Amino acid sequence: MNIAIIGTGYVGLVTGACLAESGNSVICIDNDEQKIAGLRAGTVPFHEPLLDAVVLQAGRQGNLQFTTRLDEGTRLADIVFLALGTPTGSDGNADIGPLLQCAHELAEILDHDCLVVVKSTVPPGTCEDIQALFDTMLGRRAAGCAVKVASNPEFLAEGSAVTDFRLPARIVVGTSDDADAETLKQLYAPFDPDGTRLIEMNLRSAEFAKYACNAMLAARISLINELANIAGPLGADIGPVCQVLKSDPRIGPRYLEPGAGYGGSCLPKDLRALIRMAGDKGETAPMLHSIEEVNRRQVGLVFNAIEKYFWGRFQGRCVAVWGLAFKAGTDDIRESPSLALIRALLDAGAQVRAYDPIAEPAVESSFTHPGLVLADSAEQACLDADVLVVMTEWEEFMTPDFRWLASTLRSPAIFDARNLYQDKDLKSLGLRHYQPGRTF
Ligand code: UGA
Repeated sequence: MNIAIIGTGYVGLVTGACLAESGNSVICIDNDEQKIAGLRAGTVPFHEPLLDAVVLQAGRQGNLQFTTRLDEGTRLADIVFLALGTPTGSDGNADIGPLLQCAHELAEILDHDCLVVVKSTVPPGTCEDIQALFDTMLGRRAAGCAVKVASNPEFLAEGSAVTDFRLPARIVVGTSDDADAETLKQLYAPFDPDGTRLIEMNLRSAEFAKYACNAMLAARISLINELANIAGPLGADIGPVCQVLKSDPRIGPRYLEPGAGYGGSCLPKDLRALIRMAGDKGETAPMLHSIEEVNRRQVGLVFNAIEKYFWGRFQGRCVAVWGLAFKAGTDDIRESPSLALIRALLDAGAQVRAYDPIAEPAVESSFTHPGLVLADSAEQACLDADVLVVMTEWEEFMTPDFRWLASTLRSPAIFDARNLYQDKDLKSLGLRHYQPGRTF
């Protein structure tokens, strides 16, 4: 099929590249000329494992092109995906302004039948509004073509987005009629070989499904964090307790890692939007508020443990921080718990020496502070530091030289916010070891 994708952020680009890989002819459209020039030269503007290779390969095969021109990019499209960002707006809900503006521009130029598919995370009712906009504007123009709108939310997680697209756990398709669902079924057939993954529903349900999934994931994280916080003072060890939970097939093994709370560009934003939508409908949504509250507290607990260790005095103290990205596998620092901790440490008067294998440029371009030094290596971050805090679960932090750390850190202690060393006996190596649910 001929596919146009509007928005070459991480959702749009992964979708475009993977649909091109599966044999479609794809044109990705973005109004950022620099980004498009880079993509034409094979440069992916953010870190995402496997994506560079897929973009290059699909480009070489002639299946993937890039343009800044909406008319040129959509001229032959059977399907136009809208993959623009919907960040938190001033009222807490998703800001769908740019998405509506784009739909408006499309309605001014489309002159052939096609399916417009909303990939962006949007409040239920948005697709219906966009459908109404097309119906009105195409009618007014006497365009003589029919444009239908469908919802197809994405469930890609940063760091595993290409694999998530190639092997989806489910494909959600929301439409207002069977013919549109059939079109999307055909498009996704290569990704649903056993025909069991595509779930059809109406437009509003598909839009809501995305929020429901992220709320459920956030709920699990906040609940395991809360359980960990209670386990510690009760003398219970959250490590084996997690194992017990994960082994229950009714509960399942994932999103049960206690830590410094969830971050990133999706879970926090979607929770805020859902709370706002609930409020607009007169629902108080107490669970959703609690999920957020627990999450907000979590970084504070790491900070409090460090503060206690220093007897409340940060002056003259230097803290090494491993990990800036909101999780491993990405250079994304949006709503990263690590940055929240670093800000709190700097505000309290500490010096910070931080290291991240790939997210340092993102920090350099958005956050500088005289007390913050970005180190070239994990070891270098620890030189002249009193203690170490591990905030992101990068592979290279998994097996550090603990003896070296014990002899290098001035007040040897590791604040293991990701529970990476939960089975290690660091005490015998001369390192104090603080972990969520045990000593935070
Ligand atoms: C999330 C969802 O997982 C995707 O399905 C969804 O498509 C995406 O949001 C989106 O809405 O676009 P992502 O933000 O990439 O994906 O990150 P996750 O891997 O879900 O992690 C979110 C946060 O939770 C991270 O800060 C992570 O460190 C934290 N987390 C995760 C925990 O603290 N504990 C866990 O057990 C799991």
